Amino acid sequence: MERFDAIVIGAGAAGLMAAITAGQRGRRVLLLDHAEEPGKKILISGGGRCNFTNLGVEPARFLSRNPHFCRAALARYTQQDFIALVAKHRIPFHEKTLGQLFCDGSARAIVAMLLAEASAAGVDLRAAHRVTEVTRAEAFQVVTDRGDFAAPALVLATGGLSIPKMGATGFAHDLARRFGLPLVTPAPGLVPLTFEGEDLALMRPLAGVALDVVATAGRSRFREAMLFTHRGLSGPAILQASSYWQPGEAITLDLLPGRDAAALLLSAKQARPRAEPRTALAELLPQRLAAVLAEAHLPPRIMAEQPDRALRALAERLARWPLTPSGTEGYAKAEVTLGGIDTDALSQRDMQAKAVPGLFVVGEAVDVTGWLGGYNFQWAWSSGFVAGQAL
Ligand code: FDA
Repeated sequence: MERFDAIVIGAGAAGLMAAITAGQRGRRVLLLDHAEEPGKKILISGGGRCNFTNLGVEPARFLSRNPHFCRAALARYTQQDFIALVAKHRIPFHEKTLGQLFCDGSARAIVAMLLAEASAAGVDLRAAHRVTEVTRAEAFQVVTDRGDFAAPALVLATGGLSIPKMGATGFAHDLARRFGLPLVTPAPGLVPLTFEGEDLALMRPLAGVALDVVATAGRSRFREAMLFTHRGLSGPAILQASSYWQPGEAITLDLLPGRDAAALLLSAKQARPRAEPRTALAELLPQRLAAVLAEAHLPPRIMAEQPDRALRALAERLARWPLTPSGTEGYAKAEVTLGGIDTDALSQRDMQAKAVPGLFVVGEAVDVTGWLGGYNFQWAWSSGFVAGQAL
């Protein structure tokens, strides 16, 4: 049995940060992962360029049963702290949109940076270790297929359930439950929405069409791009709304954000009286969408012959299109997992379980989920850091 000051299970964003921080403070840290290489989600993130944080990080951009829980960690390790680390390693980056910071080159640079920091901090990183048992007596004992380890502190950093084919597991949830920590029911977040029946019949031929919309779910509104897919809707606006969507409820789309749809259609009638409705609508919307909507909502006559009533009804549809998803594309396509270990069971100062001294949970395994746009990595960095400070 090898002994350490702390064992971190999960060498993703949060686990690496926790291990680095503890190592820098002189702790002997073992960082275990079942995957062959660490940080695999970092590598695929942001389309391979890793959207590693956001300039606009603030607690309101995170979902949790306790929306205030994330405040302390985000304040102790901010986006500026991570940006300083990236700058120290001379990794070129840029702001893409809405405060989202991406590497100019590959996400590999972020993993290489974290591995260099871990190595400098003396972290003992062991990949390809399958954890088969965790027990707690006077210390935590972790049994793996390649050796047994013990430490007085254990950090669960194995992430959420998203993308199981990349090795995501419910390990943290299951283990936390065994230690008596409550869970907020997990669900896929930042995920494409699926539709059935007439809605899907309308959407399917539009697969590939993208446009700027405002998508509303509950009281949350997101103005970003939306994409029609073979199964329904995707794109940033929909992914964002999906995290707030409750099964059975409708979402609402505004296809002409910031514009007066009725005024636009009525003036198109004046300006282009002889135009087909699909042609007039194509001045406002992508061509294929214009054709589908014109056919579905207007009589087959030239614009001059369209009753104002019909144009106003279509305008209402363009401004407030209520659609009820049949579901989501699930964990296979979700960028994150909503819910997770209930924050009530954890100290917001250091992520330690209140009822199990020495047990810490960080990152996506916890019931804190960020918006799309670098927020989830910032949560991983911040929660990992505060745990690392306490190990
Ligand atoms: P993470 O999942 O990163 O790490 C968990 C680690 O634990 C993994 O190394 C895994 O192998 C290991 N593990 C799991 N089960 C184990 C077990 N039983 N035993 C041992 N080890 C185990 N966010 C963002 O802010 N910007 C972005 O650009 C993106 N892009 C993005 C793209 C895609 C396709 C996805 C799926 C997700 C994103 N995200 C994102 C979300 C982001 O990747 C995610 O929130 C963080 O990686 C969470 O960090 P964690 O360290 O908590 O888990």
